[in-house]
Amino acid sequence: MELVPLSSMDTSSASQEWGTPQVNRSIREKKLSVGGQEFEGGLGTHAAFRYIVRLNKGTQKFTSWVGVDDSADSDGKASVQFRLVADGEEIFISPVMREGDAPLKIDVDLTEKEVLVLSVLPAGDGISFDHANWCDAFFHVTGDKPIPGAPWRGEATILTPKPSAKPKINGAKVFGVRPDNPFLFTIAATGSRPMSFFAEQLPAGLQLDTLTGQIQGKISTPGTYQCSLIASNALGVVKRPFRIECGNQIALTPHMGWNSWYIWENNVTDKIIRDAADAMVSSGMIQHGYQYINIDDCWAIKPGSSDPTLQGTERDEQGRILSNNRFPDMKALTDYIHSKGLKAGIYTSPGRLTCAGFVGSYGHELDDVQRFAEWGFDFLKYDWCSYGKEIPSAPTLEDMQKPYWLISKCLNIQPRDIVLNLCQYGMSNVWEWGGLFGQSWRTAGDLGLSFEKIAHQIYTDGFGLDGKQSYHKPGQYNDPDYILIGVLSNWKGQRVPTPLTPDEQYTHVTLWSLLAAPLIFSGDITQMDEFTLSLLTNDEMIEVNQDPLCIQAHCIKKEGDIQVWIKTLEDGSRAVGLFNMDDVFHKNAALLWSELGIEGEHRVRDIWRQEDIGMLKDSFTTKINPHGCVALRIW
Ligand code: GLA
Repeated sequence: MELVPLSSMDTSSASQEWGTPQVNRSIREKKLSVGGQEFEGGLGTHAAFRYIVRLNKGTQKFTSWVGVDDSADSDGKASVQFRLVADGEEIFISPVMREGDAPLKIDVDLTEKEVLVLSVLPAGDGISFDHANWCDAFFHVTGDKPIPGAPWRGEATILTPKPSAKPKINGAKVFGVRPDNPFLFTIAATGSRPMSFFAEQLPAGLQLDTLTGQIQGKISTPGTYQCSLIASNALGVVKRPFRIECGNQIALTPHMGWNSWYIWENNVTDKIIRDAADAMVSSGMIQHGYQYINIDDCWAIKPGSSDPTLQGTERDEQGRILSNNRFPDMKALTDYIHSKGLKAGIYTSPGRLTCAGFVGSYGHELDDVQRFAEWGFDFLKYDWCSYGKEIPSAPTLEDMQKPYWLISKCLNIQPRDIVLNLCQYGMSNVWEWGGLFGQSWRTAGDLGLSFEKIAHQIYTDGFGLDGKQSYHKPGQYNDPDYILIGVLSNWKGQRVPTPLTPDEQYTHVTLWSLLAAPLIFSGDITQMDEFTLSLLTNDEMIEVNQDPLCIQAHCIKKEGDIQVWIKTLEDGSRAVGLFNMDDVFHKNAALLWSELGIEGEHRVRDIWRQEDIGMLKDSFTTKINPHGCVALRIW
């Protein structure tokens, strides 16, 4: 038997929320000491700590003394739990340990085990002073030596079937427009071309182009209009109900589209936006219901910039904002986007400067909104950025709401429907009041602020929406930020694949669909591989996202590493997501009909595969990949 010290291993793959693991000393670089007892060897770590070790059945046991380091100086704040998971089973969990507590002995059997995960949990009260020591920590080895492991990274398997050549109408089943404002809706339909489009009972004032499927015009009389859309090609004809609500509410299903930020950042140009519109059509995304082509930050003048393409006059004589040289003609650009049957989005900030330092709308709100309307934009992202400088240091709720109140007043008097996305990162519980002013509101910071942490953010910001479902309804959406798959920018100006594993990408799109969150892709739309496109264009998943009830899913069960989320759909069926929150181990998951309040036999369908699993009695069980998911529809 050989003793391999934990401190002799390469721990560069370990993750830890503060500092890096220290060999034979504490995180404060002092002699390891717990409860007054000093140790020569071991690893000084900090919560939240995680280290994956591949044992390959070569280790018999692991022994260690653990506890909070005596030099933490935590004033009672330090509190941690040490946890060991072997092949997916928790084999050790310590009680909550604090500074001064005597060291605790770990001695666990690892015979025949493949993988061990050592963690230090912050014990539920944050990571302050959580200096956690693994002292005299040894692997007792008889076979292969332990080596550092990594989270599981499976294959990119495409589950979405190719659309049939027969006509099929996809996307939104309901559409809202204000009286007398321009109407533009493109019938989203898959199937071989040429295809012809028809509609029955369209309200007066609307015309349909039978070749493109674009419906345009204006409706003067408010009301609910029940219509039918029809698509036909050489292989058949299909008809689907379509409801038009002419009134005060717009964006009656979550926005679907593309945004420039996470691939182009401050390099965005007119050509890039035109290419994106072209790609929305040529990739077929438009046939699945995607509509918006949204320019993010960096289209205005950048004060003080040394780049000539960003310099120039900030506003015209009437005080209206001007675009930089990379956008020579905004009206021509939105005309181009509209000619494709798509809609155009723009971005500004209520502050003097946007987040990337471009001209913002402070003091020119009405001027700018008028300009956006004249230019022909259909969507405005209003990003807080430098606005904090304009409010008192202890702002009231009214101070926080004021820029959104003001901009919505300006938007509502335009002769054009412009969707308002509040981007202020979830401050002052925006979900409780965002619907007073706009159609969607970001509920957290940037999902991709740190490229490496996108997965982490999906688990905090996306799954963190549990409990906020009551604020979410047609035309009012919690927005956990963009879909970050495919090719993205890594902030060093390099274009690289998403850091998400294939399973995490399934989880991302499944969760966003269940949440009825805006589905705005922000990777490179001109360079999508088949896997990326398959994730974005699964019509049964999109149907869950676009369901007219717009109910946000919530979590009905947390059991170990499995979470079950549920969303009720218009036809009375339920969409269910079963998620494995662990990124190392496969996990068994079970859903009992009693947990859904139903009994007996029910039709169960695999949403991603678009295949019935069968009539199942009482329950569904499955095994889920690390950080993966299974999405079901149950009637
Ligand atoms: C903020 C927003 C992002 C993006 C950038 C642009 O960080 O949250 O979505 O718009 O600004 O500068």
